[in-house]
Amino acid sequence: MKAVVYSAYGPPDGLHLAEVATPTPADDEVLIKVQAVSVNRSDWEHLTGKPLYARFHGLFKPKRGSRILGSDIAGRVERAGRTHHQFHPGDEVFGEMGLYHAGFAEYVCTRGRDWALKPPNLSFAQAAAIPQAGVIALKGIREHGQVQPGHQVLINGAGGGAGSFAVQLAKVDGAEVTAVDSTEKLDFLRSLGADQVLDYTQHDFTTTGQQYDLILDVVAHRSVFAYPRALKPTGRYFMVGGSVATLVQILLLGPWIRRATGKQVRVLGVHRTQQALLAIAQLCAAGTLVPVIDREYPLREVPEALRYLGDGHAKGKVVITVAENVHT
Ligand SMILES: NC(=O)c1ccc[n+]([C@@H]2O[C@H](COP(=O)([O-])OP(=O)(O)OC[C@H]3O[C@@H](n4cnc5c(N)ncnc54)[C@H](OP(=O)(O)O)[C@@H]3O)[C@@H](O)[C@H]2O)c1
Repeated sequence: MKAVVYSAYGPPDGLHLAEVATPTPADDEVLIKVQAVSVNRSDWEHLTGKPLYARFHGLFKPKRGSRILGSDIAGRVERAGRTHHQFHPGDEVFGEMGLYHAGFAEYVCTRGRDWALKPPNLSFAQAAAIPQAGVIALKGIREHGQVQPGHQVLINGAGGGAGSFAVQLAKVDGAEVTAVDSTEKLDFLRSLGADQVLDYTQHDFTTTGQQYDLILDVVAHRSVFAYPRALKPTGRYFMVGGSVATLVQILLLGPWIRRATGKQVRVLGVHRTQQALLAIAQLCAAGTLVPVIDREYPLREVPEALRYLGDGHAKGKVVITVAENVHT
């Protein structure tokens, strides 16, 4: 089968289309013919090896079994292993590969425990846009964020994959939303429903004097002491992605900040479940949320797709169309 592979951490030039062995499903797995796979910031992080936590596939270079990136897939089941009973050949399914790899390829194998049947009225491209970004938004805004009507919510990094779902979901749940991203994404943020937008190249949301009930941050990079300033007395700050320095500070000092101020500053570990995937997909299938797809690229153009995301241009999601007719 064809797949896009890399063998060293670095820029997208290190990716190339190659002929590799088609995976064989274990007894408890299914073989899926990939129709579409979306690009996430995590692919960029695993490609470049930055931040350092993205090197768990190999400290100096990606291990042999992890040289195909791409995790969020929508496809059709080709074959089921002997003891796999969840999905059947012909089923249209979608979900996220464990450990963020294997997806930029024509076929993948998965146990599919947290995968689901694709809602019929979502295209493969739309379904592929949902898993990682949509579940981050669902967990951050609803499950852990427990956003209520009237809450003031700030989403930092709002113009990307997770942010574009989070802004929409917070609005659906009745929040007043401030969305933070770069200058070129401000109109896009307004189109998602944001009540206020902030250009991070001009403003630091932790020094505006404004305070929020919830801050969901997909690109945390500040000192841990900056965040409580922007929280109401019982406010919560969730770091979803960002720098290792901020991550370590939050892990070490977040509990102390909570004891001292009553404000919660913590890292949000997003555990994917089939229930969460279905919940967010059903909101998309009902038209309540829109999986916003900025651009689509064919499989051979994965390097261009990653460059587009890495250069900071992507508004919402970027999707790789592996097979034809991904819009059905
Ligand atoms: N916690 C967990 O369990 C978990 C699970 C899965 C993934 N993750 C992480 O979650 C993150 C998800 O990101 P994503 O896929 O939504 O990324 P994305 O699509 O790249 O979006 C990130 C957005 O942040 C913007 N941005 C960059 N620097 C910024 C800054 N200083 N201030 C404000 N905005 C800034 C980017 O725009 P510009 O580049 O144009 O500036 C972009 O629009 C990744 O870091 C991933 O590793 C966490």
